[in-house]
Amino acid sequence: MSTAVIDEKAKHEQMMAKIKSGEKLESLDEITEDYKDNLLKLMIAQADSELAGAYGYVPWIENAPTIAEKLAMANIVKDEVRHGKAMYELLERFGIDIYKLIDEDKMKNRMKVFFEPIKTWADLVMFNFLMDRAAGHQLQDAAECSWGPWSRTMIQIEKEEWMHVKHGETWVKKLAEDKETKAEVQRALEFWFPKVNKVFGKPHTDSNQIFQTYKLKQRDNHVVREVWYKETKELLESYGLKVPGIDVIE
Ligand SMILES: [Fe+2]
Ligand SMILES: [Fe+2]
Repeated sequence: MSTAVIDEKAKHEQMMAKIKSGEKLESLDEITEDYKDNLLKLMIAQADSELAGAYGYVPWIENAPTIAEKLAMANIVKDEVRHGKAMYELLERFGIDIYKLIDEDKMKNRMKVFFEPIKTWADLVMFNFLMDRAAGHQLQDAAECSWGPWSRTMIQIEKEEWMHVKHGETWVKKLAEDKETKAEVQRALEFWFPKVNKVFGKPHTDSNQIFQTYKLKQRDNHVVREVWYKETKELLESYGLKVPGIDVIE
């Protein structure tokens, strides 16, 4: 065996011992190429989702129904762009050309849900209710991850996602309880629910297993999806809305 292979093996053992003890990894010297590849995959996906989320909300600064809501939307856009900036700065530390990456992400890596049109205020608040909550749950795993810099960044970002969730929740409840807007918000629910249900990804895959071994994720995709599903279903039904039956992705 070459010394490079032996070094990588020794590094892997040291790295795994640290991960298992719950200690955070802090420098590029202590991580293997495989850990780095898996970490980057997850961070790149999140970085693009933050920016894509911001862009989707931008037209709703102008289209929001009240001046207070225009400000609320502008604040959410500001949060999401700041989340994007924080994520790309983490990626830059790996020597990545982030401007090239931003262009590539848009073309190749963007989640399908961000290409769906947000046509009405009911659509917007339902997307906000479902998607920011999905992000909040996924980011909980990232906040506990073994890569120290990402974990610390996520603790703040996750708090802000829960504030976005509250905004969606207040509005969905309000529109559902108003006879004039109930049918519209029900239609928005039927449109978005199956689409957001897919953002968690396939369960029990090899890559999911690897993410968990490296403590880059704490739970399998389906576990996170089930937490989201149960929580959203209970809330939506309490507002008198009907949640579509969903195919479990196995
Ligand atoms: Fe965000
Ligand atoms: Fe958000």
